[in-house]
Amino acid sequence: MKSVVVGFGGALPQKCIKNDELPASLNTSDEWISQRTGIKQRYVIGEGESTSTLATKAAKEALDFAKVSPNDIDLIVVGTTTGDYTFPATACVVQKNLNITNGCPSFDVSAACSGFIYALDVADSFIRTRKAKHALVIGADSFSKILDWNDRASCVLFGDGAGAVVLKAEENTDKGVQYCKIYSDGSYTDFLITSGGVATTQASGVVTMKGREVFKFAVEKFCDSFHELLEQNNLTIDDIDLVVPHQANVRIINKLIDVLKIDSKKVVVTIDKHSNTSAATIPLALNEIKDTISTNKNIVLLSMGAGFTWGAALIRM
Ligand code: ACO
Repeated sequence: MKSVVVGFGGALPQKCIKNDELPASLNTSDEWISQRTGIKQRYVIGEGESTSTLATKAAKEALDFAKVSPNDIDLIVVGTTTGDYTFPATACVVQKNLNITNGCPSFDVSAACSGFIYALDVADSFIRTRKAKHALVIGADSFSKILDWNDRASCVLFGDGAGAVVLKAEENTDKGVQYCKIYSDGSYTDFLITSGGVATTQASGVVTMKGREVFKFAVEKFCDSFHELLEQNNLTIDDIDLVVPHQANVRIINKLIDVLKIDSKKVVVTIDKHSNTSAATIPLALNEIKDTISTNKNIVLLSMGAGFTWGAALIRM
């Protein structure tokens, strides 16, 4: 049994802030941000918008694309660390918003920027073990709500958004999720962490990070997990048609291109338009390229986030 990707969707908030529209008090510039990160703009939620509204919009788009009706969904997994509430899960709010009344399990997974690949792995396991036939897998975050807007070193990097895919169980097919492997190393928790939480400060806290260490670790783990993926699937780099890496910094992506010696045309970059939307970067990027992905293509997804968590997936369209 395979999990075939049959639908894609994405959602961004209405408000877009370009680099040169950031507050002057931040003492930053379009030049610094563009050169150091590749980011040109970010979207941030406003009134009436939240992680669940973005996730619901992306999910509706993916269901429409897949021509699957909401009540045929029998699993919802959302990768997020910025849900509307501590509980219930964002996945349950999405279930309510979509009027899914069939009692299907709906839950969130917390793996920061690796949230989408973690959610994909969970949903793929449900499908392969015949516990689900149609799964909605969403990556959604609103980091604008957990940023210190006075800290130029972190607040310029992130934005809000959501992306979604629909997975469908299919037998006797070459398509679908061929491989998905997720990892973590908790000895790095302090390298990328919020300054609080409900059981400590009774608030989410704000993002703090050791940027240079995160940068190095991301490059190393992107490359290691990519090589392991090739080896485990008896593939060479030439067999890969597209790579969709987590979008944290274009220099991390360029380093990946250099180390892997992969044709840069095969590597999808959306960070200029979306910034780092945490768990949403990969499904948002997939949604951007959905109309250009033809069949029989091998697509590699790579992620890395707080924890540290990381992961790699191979999808065949
Ligand atoms: N505008 C202007 N100057 C800035 C800004 C800014 N927005 N931010 C930092 N600076 C300054 C610093 O204060 C420092 O000044 P100083 O030399 O006078 O002390 C100078 O720029 C250099 O700072 P560095 O931190 O050394 O800059 P670096 O080249 O390492 O870039 C960055 C910083 C962009 C954070 C980089 O390390 C990075 O991208 N790391 C990865 C972190 C990341 O992507 N995190 C996202 C979450 S994790 C994930 O998604 C995988």
